[in-house]
Amino acid sequence: MEIRFTDEELQKIESLKTRYLKPDSVILEVLYLIQEKYGFISYEGIKYASKILDISEEHVYGIVSFYSMFNTKPIGKYHLQVCTNVSCMLRGAYELLHKLEDELKIKAGETTPDGLFTISEVECLGSCGTAPVIQINKDYLENLNEDKLMHVLNDLKKAYGN
Ligand code: FES
Repeated sequence: MEIRFTDEELQKIESLKTRYLKPDSVILEVLYLIQEKYGFISYEGIKYASKILDISEEHVYGIVSFYSMFNTKPIGKYHLQVCTNVSCMLRGAYELLHKLEDELKIKAGETTPDGLFTISEVECLGSCGTAPVIQINKDYLENLNEDKLMHVLNDLKKAYGN
């Protein structure tokens, strides 16, 4: 898949670059934009970011692989990101993760065959005070329990006739 920004998007990146001493400081904005447009960051996406920012592909890959919010392969319409760091783990994160895996018949890191759900196990989502937390796309589900989670999951399934 060819990765390409529009003239308007390139202008926005160029304008952002002027705010920083080093042009590669806008790498996160570039990667966010690629993910927003194409759903994930492929090798072509890494090459494109490397080219427009004039930094090495290895450096771009290092950033993509460091941050869990970047996806390196296609994900489902709903990305269920289960935090399993200490606060969430102590408050039942693994039970919720296993419940999701059983319910959707996939493991963490996999996508359902209909392309609707992807489950990921992620590091702290920065909301430890409301643990356990699961992020679904951009929304946080906090103070979760199994009933609440199944309710949300069933609503999402119903919306797609499953
Ligand atoms: S440990 Fe889960 S949000 Fe911080």
